[in-house]
Amino acid sequence: MEEKTFAMPRIGDKAPEFKAVTTQGQINFPADYSGSWVILFSHPADFTPVCTSEFMTFASMADKFEKANTKLVGLSVDGLYSHIAWLRTIKEKIEYRGMKDVEVKFPLIEDITMEVAQKYGMIMPGEATTKAVRAVFVIDPKGIIRTIIYYPLSMGRNFDELYRVVIALQTADAFSVATPADWQPGDDVIVPTAGSCGVAKERMESKEEMKCYDWFFCTKKLDKQKVLDTILKK
Ligand code: BEZ
Repeated sequence: MEEKTFAMPRIGDKAPEFKAVTTQGQINFPADYSGSWVILFSHPADFTPVCTSEFMTFASMADKFEKANTKLVGLSVDGLYSHIAWLRTIKEKIEYRGMKDVEVKFPLIEDITMEVAQKYGMIMPGEATTKAVRAVFVIDPKGIIRTIIYYPLSMGRNFDELYRVVIALQTADAFSVATPADWQPGDDVIVPTAGSCGVAKERMESKEEMKCYDWFFCTKKLDKQKVLDTILKK
């Protein structure tokens, strides 16, 4: 039988639209999330250990993401009653790395038909044909996909890194800068590269608070508190 292929959304694309049933009721995506950042993420299956560790970790960080105006939306190809039963089990029975009584308050989409998973390129047949891989889509308040990260079935995600991604994207937007490798709030940021010879010369001669390693690579200080005050809700 011929294998169906689906175009995968890319960074800079509008997030594909869908309506879905979730553990928090119906959602109309991304319209319901206009004005907020969203992390739409898939997991392979309910009642599995790596996914359970991920949900407990993500749910424990939900307030931190909320302060960064970021909503979480999960998805797997399991049904609604499986989702409900799994989330109840997590809250009532699982104690893991100091986390217990963890309530997953963000919506978890049921996608038995795989319609949403196919739309978002969450099914990777080489890895599994019957479940989604661990996909992460970071979507901005205008519904544009800004970051995509994929992990295989066997590897739990690093949620501190996902938080860093959200903060770095928001910092880039708010201050018109880029962020270097391993950037964290308080570290120097990258000034946009000079787009003309004149600007390159100015940069090298500038007395402004900037450190240039060469004409194309200049950084400046950006106060951690200024970043956090700008991005995080009071
Ligand atoms: C897990 O979450 O443990 C898992 C799920 C699907 C395949 C492999 C691992």
